[in-house]
Amino acid sequence: MSVKFPKDFYWGAATSAHQIEGGLKNNWTEWEKEHAKVESEFYKKGGKRSFNYPIGQVNIKEACTYENYISGKAADSFNKYKEDVQLLKELGLNAYRFSVDWSRIEPEKGKYSKEGIEYYKDLIKELKSNGIEPFLTCWHWPIPPWLEEEGGLLSKNIVEYFGKYVDILVENFGQDVKYWMTINEPLVVSGSGYLQGTRAPGIKNIFKFWRVCFINLVKMHKLAYGVIKEYCPNSQVAISKNLFGIRGEGYNFFQKIIKKIFGYFWNDLFLHKIEGSLDFIGLNYYAEIETDILNFKKDERKRSDIGWAMDPYSIYYVLKDLKKKYNLPIIITENGLADREDKYRKWWLDETFRAMEDALEEGVDLFGYLHWSLLDNFEWSEGFWPRFGLVEVDRETCERRTRESGYYYKKLVERANGPG
Ligand code: BGC
Repeated sequence: MSVKFPKDFYWGAATSAHQIEGGLKNNWTEWEKEHAKVESEFYKKGGKRSFNYPIGQVNIKEACTYENYISGKAADSFNKYKEDVQLLKELGLNAYRFSVDWSRIEPEKGKYSKEGIEYYKDLIKELKSNGIEPFLTCWHWPIPPWLEEEGGLLSKNIVEYFGKYVDILVENFGQDVKYWMTINEPLVVSGSGYLQGTRAPGIKNIFKFWRVCFINLVKMHKLAYGVIKEYCPNSQVAISKNLFGIRGEGYNFFQKIIKKIFGYFWNDLFLHKIEGSLDFIGLNYYAEIETDILNFKKDERKRSDIGWAMDPYSIYYVLKDLKKKYNLPIIITENGLADREDKYRKWWLDETFRAMEDALEEGVDLFGYLHWSLLDNFEWSEGFWPRFGLVEVDRETCERRTRESGYYYKKLVERANGPG
């Protein structure tokens, strides 16, 4: 390796509460029931998605079952969190990004659950006593049922509610957590839930989408930023933002303009709106714009199980672009692929390491990499069939087994850290 990663670089993995904990009761657990019926029937009848999935790829047995779409016990991390921390440790990692489930903390409006708070306290304690830095996401999508009844992200009180919730988090975890992500992927949660209608709460309305994304989530982030900084002035606060790579040649004039406009709305607008309320940027990176969203041309790149064109090195261009536009420290808070057979993950990691090295060499202030995901988990509207884990999770027993690529990641990290 030509460039040394900084000595204090964070190497880790990421998860989110709803996707791994199990035993939750939030708006998603409600929404899943109907979705599970519709979706499993759709695939049973031989239905195919034209958007994102290459024909045939999704048509696997699990996608036809109702249970696939019910988060249920998920990866049972509520009970197995200590084992998960040991997995991180065995992989030689020093950072873990997890999220707090709002409904576990505030199952009833204004009433906070001691048990819920204790769970996350224990998790954080367990991480720290094993030398693993916690990266806490305040909100990774589901909301408590009482809030959904009040209009969810469209509620006129949503900003205030979120402020109070974050207040409780800071009061309880502030002493032990330095790195905070307020919100995960504002455009994905609002776009899929309020524009495409493919995820909870299943609304398709551009005005509602706009209100949720560019008004409410912006205000929620800014308020949360202020609350966290007030109580914990030494904390570092960010958002986790999904960005698309925007490169590729051979487009006509019209396509280039569309790409520019789309790129501006997806990648830049939200970040512009919250400028000044960010200590660093959390980058979630999976795919490039042209094949996966705009679908202008079919290309020859390999595709992951979920159908996204794989071009891991292109994260380099995203990192460079972020440096140019915002000049803030960056940590990769999500990056990975659905790869059940573990065919491509090693290659993906190699390419990503190369991209990170090149970016570091060119002065990008990158201070960590958190792979998505530590565990196979509940992949939202697609359910359990896509497998993103460095660690495989048995669907029946929830037994964990580290994949070969997990051990490979460990080796890469050891090499990057160098001797001593
Ligand atoms: C989300 C994760 C999700 C991952 C893979 C991101 O959009 O933050 O929750 O599992 O992508 O689809």
